[in-house]
Amino acid sequence: MYTVPLPRIGTDKAWREAARSLLSNRVPPEDILWDFDQTLPELFSAPTPLPDLRGQPKVPKSFVELSQQVVWHKDPQRFARLYALLWRLRLEPALMSDRADADLAKLQQMEKAVRRCKHKMKAFVRFRDLRSDGPRRAFAAWFEPTHHTVEPTAPFFARRFADMDWIILTPDVTARFENGTLSFQPGQDKPDLPEDATEELWGTYFRNIFNPARLKVKAMTSEMPKKYWKNLPEAKHIPDLIAHADAKAKEMQDKAPTLPPERVARIREQLVETAQPASWNMLQAGLRACDRCPLCAPATQVVPGTGVRDASLMIVGEQPGDQEDQAGVPFVGPAGQLFDRLAQEAGLDRESAFVTNAVKHFKFQQRGKRRIHQNPNSAEIEHCRFWLQSEIALVKPKLILAMGGTAAESLTGSRKDILKRRGAVEETGFGPVLLTVHPSYLLRLPDHLKADANAAFVADLQEARRIIA
Ligand code: URA
Repeated sequence: MYTVPLPRIGTDKAWREAARSLLSNRVPPEDILWDFDQTLPELFSAPTPLPDLRGQPKVPKSFVELSQQVVWHKDPQRFARLYALLWRLRLEPALMSDRADADLAKLQQMEKAVRRCKHKMKAFVRFRDLRSDGPRRAFAAWFEPTHHTVEPTAPFFARRFADMDWIILTPDVTARFENGTLSFQPGQDKPDLPEDATEELWGTYFRNIFNPARLKVKAMTSEMPKKYWKNLPEAKHIPDLIAHADAKAKEMQDKAPTLPPERVARIREQLVETAQPASWNMLQAGLRACDRCPLCAPATQVVPGTGVRDASLMIVGEQPGDQEDQAGVPFVGPAGQLFDRLAQEAGLDRESAFVTNAVKHFKFQQRGKRRIHQNPNSAEIEHCRFWLQSEIALVKPKLILAMGGTAAESLTGSRKDILKRRGAVEETGFGPVLLTVHPSYLLRLPDHLKADANAAFVADLQEARRIIA
C-alpha cells in the first residue's frame, strides 16, 4: 500500500507528480491511499516512498484539464476517482469522450462545481479598505468558498488588483498579495475587519439594479446562492426588496417615464464623494482597481481609453467587446475595424484622437464557450461615468463624439432618438458633444441599408473633423 501525502497548499502540483510517478510504475488504484492535509489516522500515516519515475506516461489533454479543476473539489475521494480514471485510460484511450461513462460523468460534475465556485469567488469577494499609511493601498476580504478554490482563483485577483496589497482570508487557505508577490498560508477563523464606505455603496448599487418587475427569486438565488449572503454587504437588502417587489413593480407601471430617477442621482452623489484622479497614473491605478460595480468580476480586465492625451477630439463608444476585453484596448474588434475604415473615408485620423468607452468592463453572458455581449444598464453606466468624467477632465477635448445610445446616455443623460439627434452638437456638462450611431449598429443593418447608413456616419465624422479643425 502506498500512502501519498498531499499538502493543502500546492495540492495540484503534488497530485500531478504523484499520479504520474505511480502510473509509470503501474501501481493500481486499490494500492494507493491519498492523504490530503495529513488527515489519515496514525495507523496509515507512516510515509511510504513514492516509486521512482520510469518514463512519462502519455495523458490526454482533456484529462489534464479535468484534473486541474477536480483536485480543488472538496470531495475526499477526488484524488482516488481521478487516479482510477487515469488508470483506465491506459487501456481505454477513447474513455474521455465516452458520454455514458459514470466515472467520467461524476468527475465532470465535480469539475463544473469547481468552475462555478471559482466564478462565485470572483464575483462575491468584497474587500474592505484597511486604510494603510504605506505607499500601497491595503485591503482585506473574508470569504467562505465551497471548494478549495482560493489558490487557483487568487491569480485573478493579483491581475485585477496588481497595484494594491490585499489579503483574502478563508477558513481553508489564506491568499496574500504584497508588493506584487502572491503567497498562501493556512486558513483561519473569521477576523474582525473594519467597516468601510464601499459596503454601503454595494448596497446602493444592488438596490438600484434590482428590477422588481423582473424578479425571479429562483434565478436570483441560483445566481447569488444564499450561502454567500452573510458576507455580502448588499445581501441584507434582498429580503426587503423581494417582500416589496410586487408593490414596487406596480408603482413603476403607474409612474410615467421621468427624468433620470432620483435613485440614480443618489448614487451619483455618493460616487462623486470620491475625488477624481488628478493624474494619468492615478486614473490608470484607479481603473485597474475598480470594483464599483460587479461588471469587474467576470471581465478579463478593465479597458481604459487610449490615444493622444491632449487630443481635440474624444471618441466615446459603449463598452469593450470580447476582443477588446482580451486585448485591453478599445475598438480593436469588428466594430473598431469598421470605424477605422469609415474614419479614413471621412479623413479623420483616429491616431490623433482619444478613444474610450462609456463603460470600461465587458458585460457579457457566458453561453458555452461564447461570451454574448449584454447592454450595460443605467446603474452601470452611472457608476462608470466617474471614469469617463475623469478621462474628459484630463484630456480636455474640444469636442466629444458620442457613438450610440450608451455613450449618449452617459454624456447627455438621454439615449432617446439618436437617429434624429445625430450630426448635431449638444452642449453638456462635459462640453460640446456630437452624437452619432454606434459602428456595431451599422454592422447589424441588412445589406441593402448599409451603404446609406455608412455614408451618413461618414458625414457625422466629417462634421466632427470640421468642428475641431
Ligand atoms: N464597441 C464599443 O463600444 N467599444 C469598443 O471598444 C468595442 C466595441
